[in-house]
Amino acid sequence: MKFFVDTADIDAIRELHALGMVDGVTTNPSLIMKSGRDIKEVTKEICDLVDGPVSAETVALDAEGMIREGLILKEIADNIAIKVPLTWEGLKACKALTDQGHMVNVTLCFSANQALLAAKAGATFISPFVGRLDDLNIDGMELISDIREIYDNYGFETQILAASIRTPNHMSEAARIGADVATAPPSVIHAMAKHVLTDKGLDAFLKDWAATGQNIV
Ligand code: E4P
Repeated sequence: MKFFVDTADIDAIRELHALGMVDGVTTNPSLIMKSGRDIKEVTKEICDLVDGPVSAETVALDAEGMIREGLILKEIADNIAIKVPLTWEGLKACKALTDQGHMVNVTLCFSANQALLAAKAGATFISPFVGRLDDLNIDGMELISDIREIYDNYGFETQILAASIRTPNHMSEAARIGADVATAPPSVIHAMAKHVLTDKGLDAFLKDWAATGQNIV
C-alpha cells in the first residue's frame, strides 16, 4: 500500500520523506488554510520535494470552472493530481481532464455508487472518506472493502485512496482490505510506530542492562 501524507505542512512532509514514508501528498482547502501559505507556493515546494502525485484541489462548483482551475494547478508541476469533488459536475471535469492525460483525484466519496461513477469517468484516484463516515456511526472501512470488491469485479484501474484516516487501525485495515493508497496526517503515521508493549519491553531491557554495569561504546 502506498502512503500519501495528508498535509500542507512542508516540514512534516520533509521529515517523513527522509524516512521513505512518502509516496505522495494530498492537500485540500482546509489544509491550505491551516498551513497559512499561498496554495501555489506551498504546492510547488511540496512537488519539488516529493516525486509521487501531489493532489491540489479545485474550488469551483461547475465543471468548466473546475477544469480551468485544474489546468492552472497542473501548471505548478508535472506530478500534480487535480482534485475534484464527487458531484455530477466533478465527474464531468474528471472525464475531461482525464481525457487530456491529467491525473485526477475524485474526492469526498461516501458511497460505492459514487466510486463506481468515478471509475467510469476515468479517475486516477477515488478518495473515500473513512473517518467522516465513522463519525456518523457508519463503518468507513466497509466502504473501502465494497469499492475494492466492485473495482476487482470489473478490473477498474482507478486507485482506491483511503482518505480521512484518523487512527493507526485505519491504516492497517486499509492495507488488509487492499486499498492501493492511504493518505494520513503525519501524526497518524508516527502513531503507527507506537506499541505499549514495545515501550514496556524497552524499559525492562534498559533496567536489566544497567544492572550488568556494561557499556557497548
Ligand atoms: C484527503 O484527500 C482528504 O482531504 C482528507 O483525508 C480529509 O480528512 P478529514 O476528514 O480528516 O478532514
